[in-house]
Amino acid sequence: MGEILRVRGGRPLEGTVRLPSAKNSVLPILAAAVLADGPVVLRDVPDLADVHASVAILRALGLTVRRRGGDLHLLPAPVPGWQLPEAPARAMRSSVFYLAPVLHRAGCVRMPMPGGCRLGPRPIDIHLDGLSRMGAQTLWEDGWLELRTSARLQGIDYTLRLPSVGATETLLMAAALAKGDTVLRNVAREPEIRDLADFLNACGARIEGAGQPVIRVQGKTSLHGARHRPIPDRIVAATVAAAVAGCGGCVTMLGTGEDPLGPVADVLERAGCHTDHPVPESWRVQRQDRLQGVGLVRTGVWPGFSTDAAPVVAGGLLAAQGDTVVEDTVFEDRFACAEGFAQLGGQVCRRGRALAMHGPVQLSGARVRAADLRGGAGLAVAALAAAGESVVEGAEYVRRGYADLAGMFRALGADVCAGRENRA
Ligand code: UD1
Repeated sequence: MGEILRVRGGRPLEGTVRLPSAKNSVLPILAAAVLADGPVVLRDVPDLADVHASVAILRALGLTVRRRGGDLHLLPAPVPGWQLPEAPARAMRSSVFYLAPVLHRAGCVRMPMPGGCRLGPRPIDIHLDGLSRMGAQTLWEDGWLELRTSARLQGIDYTLRLPSVGATETLLMAAALAKGDTVLRNVAREPEIRDLADFLNACGARIEGAGQPVIRVQGKTSLHGARHRPIPDRIVAATVAAAVAGCGGCVTMLGTGEDPLGPVADVLERAGCHTDHPVPESWRVQRQDRLQGVGLVRTGVWPGFSTDAAPVVAGGLLAAQGDTVVEDTVFEDRFACAEGFAQLGGQVCRRGRALAMHGPVQLSGARVRAADLRGGAGLAVAALAAAGESVVEGAEYVRRGYADLAGMFRALGADVCAGRENRA
């Protein structure tokens, strides 16, 4: 049985939506909770497939995890485990976040190669290089990775080869309980990095400079528990905004934080949308006029245009008049969704890491297949703008990052439902 989204597109979107907490904040923070000696409460945690996988890992490591309404309550493990369970660890890339916390708690950690969306090669060399410079010994055996330390990890002065989001988070978690001070240079500056640092600081860590290119950490001997509300999900915001661009209408997003989208908002404005902030921490997007191509859009690390937003914005601009070229500088294979865009009537062409689109075109319903999370969301956005019925197969990918994409768009007037069907 495969999961599908069934979409009858062509309706404008109207209404209000509250943004959930960001998946890319929640997942590293759940792993960081392993470092805490006391209870951790995470507020408004969305019910995502990757959150389920994280909870399975946390429970296998001995933590007690309970969901109360939207919140997750975590109690530390009396005797911490050190081997990650295979299925949930292989199911997502974010299992890599458990390396540093489990190493600190148990002195060793064993996990299979992390999975996640296939967006091209996704090595973890920077995570491992940083940890080994802090004193971890690394061993690969039959597809499993094992790290050991004979003493507490040591603070270091370390320059990342490139500003990887995940490696910055791994090394922040490692530095928080390391012996002595750590300086991390050329780090990622995405808002989720600051959120992880805010959570760790709420637990008693001493981290300064998160959100800037150099982070300084004073290692502590222990961390206590904390309550924390992760930042709102800027990729869900981009998805809703892109759908408004594609379908027309007017949607207000609430609980957005300050300026969640930066360059994504600029691109949508160039495409003919109007965006403003009717109340603080809100974002209203409307499109009444014709959708225009925007020329070249290049993704980049923060504060650049987010790579995760690339397929959803492409889905929203698929029918636009004129040319749009979206080039992803972060991942090699971001646009597996191109084939589905063409089946929906888009005039698209993949050139290396770029997706070129030309219009105007009339989109019409089709059966398409998601191959990854954001590409699947991009196909759903394009299907919402297409006349007639579409089926997006592979919707289980989409559920990794959107708790209920269908329900969210239904509340905005779309005709879309999630379901299952037998695969031939
Ligand atoms: C995180 C996000 C993901 C987003 C990406 C870029 C989470 C859970 N996921 O992924 O949604 O698309 O940031 O904003 O937060 N790289 C290496 N060696 C490493 C690590 C990374 O070569 O050790 C490369 C990757 O292959 C990729 C680039 O660096 O080409 C960026 O990856 P990175 O920033 O680490 O992304 P993730 O943390 O995997």
